[in-house]
This record gives sequence, C-alpha cells and structure tokens, in this order.
Amino acid sequence: MRLSSFWRCAAAVAALVPSFATAEDADNPSGQSTFISPDKDLGFAFTIGNVDVNDYFVTMRLKTSRSWGAIGLGSNAMAGALYFVMYLNEKADNVTFSPRLAYGNYEPYFYDSLKWQYLNHSIKDGFSTLSFRCIDCQNWPGGTSGKGYLDFTSHDQKSIWALGPHQKLRSNDQKAALRFHESHGVFNIDMARTRGAEDTPALTDKSVDEGITRVKETFGRDHMATTLMNLVREIVVNRRNSDADNTMIIVVVGTAFSLTLAAMSLGIALWMMHDMKKNAALREANRLL
Ligand SMILES: *[C@@H]1O[C@H](CO)[C@@H](O)[C@H](O)[C@H]1NC(C)=O
Ligand SMILES: *[C@@H]1O[C@H](CO)[C@@H](O)[C@H](O)[C@H]1NC(C)=O
Repeated sequence: MRLSSFWRCAAAVAALVPSFATAEDADNPSGQSTFISPDKDLGFAFTIGNVDVNDYFVTMRLKTSRSWGAIGLGSNAMAGALYFVMYLNEKADNVTFSPRLAYGNYEPYFYDSLKWQYLNHSIKDGFSTLSFRCIDCQNWPGGTSGKGYLDFTSHDQKSIWALGPHQKLRSNDQKAALRFHESHGVFNIDMARTRGAEDTPALTDKSVDEGITRVKETFGRDHMATTLMNLVREIVVNRRNSDADNTMIIVVVGTAFSLTLAAMSLGIALWMMHDMKKNAALREANRLL
C-alpha cells in the first residue's frame, strides 16, 4: 500500500518535471540565439522568421557607460563582416544605429544601403536596447574578402563582437568616428535553430547565452595599443574637424627641422676645427723635436 502510493507520487512528480522544463522563459525564449559578452555590457539576440527568409530580427543591448557596442556577422575577422554598431544619440533618449562594413583591420565605415526597419528601443537601468528587422540583408559587399553572406541553415555562423571604451560618444551621426575597441571576441551563432515565428528577440538582464559557441576573447591585453590608437585617432579627428589651416604646423615643424640641421652642421664644423687645431699643434710639436 505504502509502496504503491510512493510510485503514484513519483509518477506525479515525473509528469510535472517536463512541463517545468518546457515552460517558456520570457528572458530566454527558445526561438532565438542569444549572446551576452563576458562583462554583460553587450547583448545580441537573433531570430529568423518563417516566411521572409532573407529577413531577420535583431535585438541589441548595450551598457550606457560604453561609448559604443558592435556585432559583426559573417566573419571571425574584422574584414568582411557586416557590422551592427549602436550608440546613444545626442540627447541620450534614443539609440543611433549604424550599419558598417570593414575591408581591413581598421575602423568600419558606414554602410548606407542596408535596409532595416526600426522596431523599438528603450533606455533604462543603465542599458540601451534596440530592436530592428534587417531586410534582405543575407548578402552584403565583402570587399577583397569576397562576398559577405549569412548561411541561415548554419549552426556555427562566424561572428565577432566589440566594445568601445567607457566614454561618452553620444551622436546622431551614423558615421560618427569610433574610438578603438577596448575588448572584442569571436563567437559562432546557431542560426538554423532560430527559424520559426517572426518575433522581436528578447534581451534582459537575465538573458544568457543560447545557441552560441564562444571561440576567443580579448580584453585589456591590447590596452597600450588601444591607448596609442585612440590618441592618434583623436589628433587626426581634431585636425580634420578644425578650421585652422596647417600653415602654423608646417612653420613650426619646418623651423624645428631647420634648426636641428643647423645645429648639427655647426657641431660638425666645430669638431673639424678642433681636430685641425689639434693636428696643427701636433705637427708643430713634431717640427720642434
Ligand atoms: C528612435 O530612433 C529610431 C531610428 O533609430 C527612429 O526610427 C525612432 O522614431 C526614434 N524614436 C523616437 C521616440 O525618437
Ligand atoms: C519591443 O517589442 C517587443 C515585442 O512587442 C517587446 O517584447 C520588447 O520588450 C520591446 N523592447 C523594448 C526595448 O521596448
């Protein structure tokens, strides 16, 4: 009697367990693939609809203290990827979305002809979130690295992520200059598993990696290089933006260069004179002996 009630109880529990396991988690719905950066400052969620196979749905979430955040699809290297870059607008009440392409290991440039549809955004709890539908963006010009392409049947679609430094960028300009990334990494997305209902992918503070393989991550290690790159970039940008002409710089650099040359010539002349005097003195001494 006891035993049979035990088994009845066990069967009841067993029947309950799967229903718990399959219950839809609002923060991590089953129909999307989700990537969360190791410091949780950047999130990316991806899903494909059933009908329009060339469209897909993206949600990105970025910590507002970061200057920018980006996801690059279709490549494990900077070159050839299709980039979704996001940053706060000037008033910090909306997100500026900037699709970009990179043809080398330098700053990606604005990709004007990407078709996308804004879905919604929010800025709260120290994070900005943007959802959009990418229209017909399975292909893009990949430059010398070949044609950019996303294979929606892939379980390991090459991707990269990058985070800008903790600074204010705040711009409405989709072409805004980006400071060199502070950390970045490489991961693969299972795209095939996301085929299904057309919906806006969810991203919250409780979202976790789903359908993602992490390949490699780099932080801080390139700090020195990052600082130098930012410095050079800043000088270049300041020069580009400044109205002052370059005459002053040419005059200063030219004068410094001329003065250095003059000083060197003088040094050589003095040294030669000194040498001549010494030789003359030696000759005189020899003559006297
Ligand atoms: C926010 O920006 C998007 C473009 O990224 C725009 O379509 C949308 O209308 C803006 N929303 C508000 C409330 O300004
Ligand atoms: C965007 O819309 C979706 C679906 O309506 C909703 O689940 C999500 O919370 C919204 N996101 C933001 C950032 O408001």
